[in-house]
Amino acid sequence: MESLCLKHTALCGVLLSLTLFTAPANCLESCQFPAIFNFGDSNSDTGGLSAAFGQAPPPNGNTFFHAPAGRYSDGRLVIDFIAESLGLPHLSAYLDSLGSNFSHGANFATAGSTVRPPNSTISQSGASPISLDVQFVQFSDFHRRSPSLLKQGGIFAALLPKEEFFSRAIYTFDIGQNDLTAGYKLNMTTDQVKAYVPDVLSQLSNVIRSAYAQGGRTFWIHNTGPVGCLPYVLDRFPVTASQVDKYGCATPYNEVAQYFNTKLKETVIQLGKDLPLAALTYVDTYSVKRNLITQAKKLGFQDPLVACCGHGGKYNYNKNYKCGVKVKVDGKERVVSKSCKDPSVRINWDGIHFSEAANKWIFQQIANGSFSTPQIPLKMACRRQHNSLT
Ligand SMILES: *[C@@H]1O[C@H](CO)[C@@H](O)[C@H](O)[C@H]1NC(C)=O
Ligand SMILES: *[C@@H]1O[C@H](CO)[C@@H](O)[C@H](O)[C@H]1NC(C)=O
Ligand SMILES: *[C@@H]1O[C@H](CO)[C@@H](O)[C@H](O)[C@H]1NC(C)=O
Ligand SMILES: *[C@@H]1O[C@H](CO)[C@@H](O)[C@H](O)[C@H]1NC(C)=O
Repeated sequence: MESLCLKHTALCGVLLSLTLFTAPANCLESCQFPAIFNFGDSNSDTGGLSAAFGQAPPPNGNTFFHAPAGRYSDGRLVIDFIAESLGLPHLSAYLDSLGSNFSHGANFATAGSTVRPPNSTISQSGASPISLDVQFVQFSDFHRRSPSLLKQGGIFAALLPKEEFFSRAIYTFDIGQNDLTAGYKLNMTTDQVKAYVPDVLSQLSNVIRSAYAQGGRTFWIHNTGPVGCLPYVLDRFPVTASQVDKYGCATPYNEVAQYFNTKLKETVIQLGKDLPLAALTYVDTYSVKRNLITQAKKLGFQDPLVACCGHGGKYNYNKNYKCGVKVKVDGKERVVSKSCKDPSVRINWDGIHFSEAANKWIFQQIANGSFSTPQIPLKMACRRQHNSLT
């Protein structure tokens, strides 16, 4: 029945009129998003940090692109699967001057990005200077300058989205994880980290309001994942035995992520009240990732807490020898941190990021809306559902 509804809009019409306003979301016509504008960190960076600070080295990209492709993964990211499923090309990074094509959107995300402007440089802390406020400045500039270039025609116009795409696009957000770890890097306690979460969310909220003010209407917002299950967190911020759960994850960091997510959900609900024409979807990627990690074996995956590409230790993660890093041995450059044999059965790629296989699974879980509030599929995310956003 559901698939019939999706395919036959005539039938949907009948159902709609029979059931008045209670027809399931699946019965609405799909949104036909013409473009994606993405904001975020490494979870959705398709080449931003690589363009500005140097390519993610091989073996990144090996599985799908067969070469480095600006992504911190062996292959595609969740945002790539989102683009594919909407019938759109993979997003070019806004910062990438070479070969970029923005006709169906642009990606403003960079690895290491936080919502709040960092107070340290990338070499000091790994924080990208392209925090969310900067990403939004770049988006605004992109939006403001597009019309005159579109009028010029020719190659410039061919590489830009049509003006109407800005209001019909889906605006995707996946950011916040690095704001949480930033505090721990400064030796803050969990209470201190929690104390600044409202500030992080108010800045995120302001960016969504500003995108709305510029005509954005559909917002698809991922919450933050179980950072306490990531090798780099387990290695870098050790906890006591009593703070490790039965899956091996560090409880305090997962609790702080869940605290952030509870507040994020409240923020999204408030935005839904304040922005009368916005369709906002809160997507619980935390639960999806947690399910994947805790049920790895059942789902055909191995070693959920061990990096595929790394350099030894309990988690195969060493911050001095990250995936693909070369060191000089006897005058010769050697890659000391290599890929595992079969990334397709691994969840964690490099200690920080997910493998393509994991990203694909995560996408499949979130696409039909079963982890969303309101529960509507990605393809229908432009439908504003007043009463179901609770
Ligand atoms: C840009 O990408 C779109 C969609 O993939 C494609 O149709 C178009 O030909 C590309 N433009 C150029 C100038 O290559
Ligand atoms: C950076 O420093 C300013 C001034 O002390 C402070 O208001 C802000 O919250 C800090 N930002 C972060 C990310 O810590
Ligand atoms: C955090 O604590 C560690 C260990 O005591 C210390 O080496 C480091 O300098 C501290 N970092 C900051 C930013 O205070
Ligand atoms: C959503 O998709 C997942 C993965 O394909 C599937 O397991 C789940 O049953 C689906 N949920 C609904 C409500 O269709």
